[in-house]
Amino acid sequence: MCGIIGVALKSGNAAREVYSGLERLEYRGYDSAGLSVRDNDGRIITVKRGGRVANLQAGLYGITGCVAIGHTRWATHGEPNDVNAHPHTAGIFSVVHNGIIENFRELKDELQSSGEKFVSETDSEVIVRLINREYKGDVLTAVAAAVKKLKGSYALGILCADFKGIIAVKYKSPVVVGFGTDGVTLCSDIPALPDYVNSVCLPEDGDIVIITDKSASFYDKDLQPVNRVRRPVFAGQLNAGRGDYPHFMLKEIYETEQTVRDTCESFFRNVDVKRLTEYVRGADRVIITGCGTAYNAGLVAARFFTDRCGVFCQVEIASELRYSPVHITSATLVIAVSQSGETADTVEAVSALKERGARVIAVTNCGFSAITRVAGLVVPVCAGAEVCVAATKSYIGQLVALYLIAGLTGDVFKARGELLSLCNGISSLLNDCSKAGLIAEKCAASSAVFFLGRGIDYAVAVEASLKLKEVSYIFSDGYPAGELKHGTLALVDENTLSVILICDKTLADKCENAVSQIISRKGKVAVITCLADVAEKLSGSAEVWKIPACSAELSPFVSAVALQLIAYKTAVLLGRDPDKPRNLAKSVTVE
Ligand code: M6R
Repeated sequence: MCGIIGVALKSGNAAREVYSGLERLEYRGYDSAGLSVRDNDGRIITVKRGGRVANLQAGLYGITGCVAIGHTRWATHGEPNDVNAHPHTAGIFSVVHNGIIENFRELKDELQSSGEKFVSETDSEVIVRLINREYKGDVLTAVAAAVKKLKGSYALGILCADFKGIIAVKYKSPVVVGFGTDGVTLCSDIPALPDYVNSVCLPEDGDIVIITDKSASFYDKDLQPVNRVRRPVFAGQLNAGRGDYPHFMLKEIYETEQTVRDTCESFFRNVDVKRLTEYVRGADRVIITGCGTAYNAGLVAARFFTDRCGVFCQVEIASELRYSPVHITSATLVIAVSQSGETADTVEAVSALKERGARVIAVTNCGFSAITRVAGLVVPVCAGAEVCVAATKSYIGQLVALYLIAGLTGDVFKARGELLSLCNGISSLLNDCSKAGLIAEKCAASSAVFFLGRGIDYAVAVEASLKLKEVSYIFSDGYPAGELKHGTLALVDENTLSVILICDKTLADKCENAVSQIISRKGKVAVITCLADVAEKLSGSAEVWKIPACSAELSPFVSAVALQLIAYKTAVLLGRDPDKPRNLAKSVTVE
């Protein structure tokens, strides 16, 4: 959802450094990209283009300077083209922005009535024009005066021809300041920082930061100095590239087993298990919330809490929860699930519930993210940097964390043992996944793909459908298998594929009925099952993938990996870029 970066280097080529940073940040948006450099003569040179970061390459030749800012865009206001690309410039200023300026129309009218000429359709252009108008010789004062007029969310990187550093501002959009041997960097996300960075500071909302090649000074909105703690950054937090894999999505699916192990280990090392146990055992009710895949992880986990632990658990889409009159008591436990920890819908929803008295736990892959500042307790998902826009290993990591939290109602060490014993199943699935290619061929040849299951399989089916549609652009839906005959069967014909998950033997017969109903209507069927007898029975009538044996309750940890592989292979067969699906971005920091 737009990535910003800025570097103030002791020496070297800031344009190159920012360009590499934009490549690492591209998962946050890839509608357009641009950068501005302050050259050694104090001139600001800007290069920006519609489309991918690579389109900037040709324009960088011959640009020198040690200070630069850059932006990769996920368009909100104005179509993705060269003009609407950031940075936006006015007078001696250049600005990159991540967020949304909610009052930009009023500000634009006001600026236009005083003679200001706008060139883009973006909300962001008002920022640079306001700063330029406020400038009377002191950059910091101009920035502080301008941002006081903004409503909305903004992480800003600002260059000024009169100033040798960068000014950063943070309000409700993420930004970190990184320190290293070569200089100081600002960046939307820790994983996209350059590898010379060894420590970071996290600005708070309202902070204005002066960045030079040697230091960063933090001020509040009234320009009073404030202290921000410096924390170390470890190599595992940074994006280490995709190695020999053709795509990050595939690499990240293959990192699932490690994610399971690391998340289990971290649970007992980094979490305040005693307090968490009190929260869980004292809960009158558990509400799990998140968006997209994180919400879908909640659908699976509700089964862990309700079926296994007898705790009433409801799962809510975060963007709906914020405005719903859900019943809250001081014993209500809210679990916010978010890979990035920055999803605005989730952060805002749980902040509101916290204000109403709920206890909030965050399950997140990003340790210093916004959600961790709202939550009373954090349970880390240890998936490492996840670069592909489609969540894969982080989904399984979320399931691990949620399984362990639910396990606190009973024997949590037994729960950990069960999870670790799954690792063999995951690795044998990944070692022998030829069926993924065969089912992907059927998906790629279909006009629509339905994922069906009952019980916990239904929860996995919903995520399988999201994964397939986002990376392949094939219409897809996830359904409870029993619902088929109540409507969706009308859509089934010889051009559709139904993928049926059967991992719960108590519900297997009912699912087999769904297979027959589809085949009778000439629909194509694929079956994913961990049950040997089901595999044998259905292998004559459907494409069957027998995945490693496991209990129904633990089957999502294996079946979801199989379904991720099918989505990945379908995308590749159709020539899509699975790492950067059209119109999407990795972390959605606007509501
Ligand atoms: O960072 P989060 O987990 O909060 O993100 C939530 C969703 O935006 C995310 O899961 C999205 O649905 C993914 N593209 C799914 O693959």
